[in-house]
Amino acid sequence: MSYTQSLIPTPTRVVKVIDEIPNVKTYVVERPKNFMNPKPGQFNMIYVHGVGEVPISVSDVVNNTIAHTVRFVGSVTNVIRNLKEGDIVGIRGPYGKPWPIDEYRGWNILIVAGGIGLAPLRPAIKEIIKRKKEFGKLIILYGARTPKDLLYRNELLKYGEVSDVEVHLTVDRADESWEGHVGVVTKLIPLVKIDVKRTVAFICGPEIMIKFTIKELIKKGLDVRRMYVSLERRMKCGVGLCGHCQLGPYFVCKHGPIFPYWLISKYFEVEEL
Ligand SMILES: Cc1cc2nc3c(=O)[nH]c(=O)nc-3n(C[C@H](O)[C@H](O)[C@H](O)COP(=O)(O)OP(=O)(O)OC[C@H]3O[C@@H](n4cnc5c(N)ncnc54)[C@H](O)[C@@H]3O)c2cc1C
Ligand code: FES
Repeated sequence: MSYTQSLIPTPTRVVKVIDEIPNVKTYVVERPKNFMNPKPGQFNMIYVHGVGEVPISVSDVVNNTIAHTVRFVGSVTNVIRNLKEGDIVGIRGPYGKPWPIDEYRGWNILIVAGGIGLAPLRPAIKEIIKRKKEFGKLIILYGARTPKDLLYRNELLKYGEVSDVEVHLTVDRADESWEGHVGVVTKLIPLVKIDVKRTVAFICGPEIMIKFTIKELIKKGLDVRRMYVSLERRMKCGVGLCGHCQLGPYFVCKHGPIFPYWLISKYFEVEEL
């Protein structure tokens, strides 16, 4: 496929809309014919006719459908908010580098996620659980602002029942229903037992959370070469042509959004170059 062709969205139908948490819904769309099966961590460009296009991670793939979990923050996503089952959107992708799951067969996997950052990690979690025998322990650390903001909460609780899978949740602010941990997600790191010689970390969330997570993991003794982060930058083309998402010598859309942390650590402090 030529670059020009890859920039043209394919129309597809919204088959299901799931209310997740306040200000966040999941949109399940039909996978168009010849659309490649997205790998965990990849994203699609979602086009809303007459409004614009936004990069959104794939949050699930079931049969011939692809799910995208969207937080409503601005001009395009606030129009997505009003989409209903049967509506048509444009889709192109899947783009970007996936989580390096196959490279770490036999390893323990530590997932650290904050807020909507759990969405691009969800397909990785599902894949690892599906192929659990190929991996060691799976530890999921997830934090949100309040108990009502915990994404995929019931699903996470079910994962916690799988043998050799630990799920630890935390919230910044508790309510009367919450009996779990209170504090930011990085506060969970000193509390869990991690075999640092056999563990790889996949991290996604706000950049400040990623920075503090990395600091805590280094303190814990995890090798920085075993840390992978998912980054967000404003995007236009999504395929490495326009330079909008540049981070030092890298394009987040093409060389990321999943990066080995050591590769981008020196550019990480800078928002957009
Ligand atoms: C690879 C990738 C995967 C993403 N996956 C998801 C996802 O699964 N779910 C989801 O809800 N969002 C995701 N995002 C973020 C999403 O693309 C933006 O929220 C969206 O583009 C905002 O568009 P808008 O027109 O609604 O907001 P705008 O009106 O353009 O902006 C509203 C506010 O959001 C900020 N903003 C816009 N785009 C970005 C961005 N890319 N990074 C950081 N801040 C931004 C702006 O600075 C502004 O403050 C992802 C972004 C990238 C790059
Ligand atoms: S969005 Fe155009 S180069 Fe990345």
